Amino acid sequence: MSKNISTQRGFPDELRTSAAELYDAAFGAKLSIAIPNPISRKAILKEGLSPEFSFVAIHDGKMVGIAGFKTEKGSLTGGISFRLLKRILGYWGAIRAIFLLALFKRNQVADQLIMDGIGVSTKMRGSGIGTALLHRLIEYAKKDEYRSIRLDVIDTNPAARRLYERLGFVPIKTDQFASLRWLLGFGAATQMQYSLSTKA
Ligand SMILES: CC(C)(COP(=O)(O)OP(=O)(O)OC[C@H]1O[C@@H](n2cnc3c(N)ncnc32)[C@H](O)[C@@H]1OP(=O)(O)O)[C@@H](O)C(=O)NCCC(=O)NCCS
Repeated sequence: MSKNISTQRGFPDELRTSAAELYDAAFGAKLSIAIPNPISRKAILKEGLSPEFSFVAIHDGKMVGIAGFKTEKGSLTGGISFRLLKRILGYWGAIRAIFLLALFKRNQVADQLIMDGIGVSTKMRGSGIGTALLHRLIEYAKKDEYRSIRLDVIDTNPAARRLYERLGFVPIKTDQFASLRWLLGFGAATQMQYSLSTKA
């Protein structure tokens, strides 16, 4: 990774717009099922992201990468409440969004850190930023004595899966969603886990 890129935990309010743009560039297609309008989606992300549950990469003062996580205390996208959705989408838009967002909800298991999205700006991909952010996350999980890190990767994203495997994540199980491919845009999601208890 180039020397003028640094990583840090969280981000200040003035980088909220960049964080929302970055998260939307990585996950907008998936989120659009629940929140189709990109302007509304970015407004919701800008307000609803909780910076303390992220590591970010900064290049020349700009955010170029973000890796979110979920613990028993909260998650990067945990601030996207019904109230916020209702304010921006209206009552029925919020009901629809909550219902569809629930399809992507992951249950918390004790002593397990869950990834809540990782995205690197298109121009900066392939230069080690994703790897550096995942290293920060692994370090953090070790320090806070989590036993494992879990994430989900979809069948249409082999590049992300390669990255996770290279870092030591192993596939645990695959859920098939063939009948929902028309809605979700993917037909299967694999749960991967990084075990910390044997790597202390
Ligand atoms: C997946 C993603 C986060 C990876 O981020 P990244 O910064 O490109 O990741 P890295 O650069 O660390 O590694 C990716 C590749 O670059 C290579 N690489 C790493 N450091 C490098 C360097 N200094 N120079 C050149 N290539 C490098 C890696 O070997 C890897 O190659 P591979 O595809 O053969 O495995 C990014 O592609 C992304 O934002 N994708 C869209 C959102 C997404 O899919 N998120 C994951 C959902 S599960």
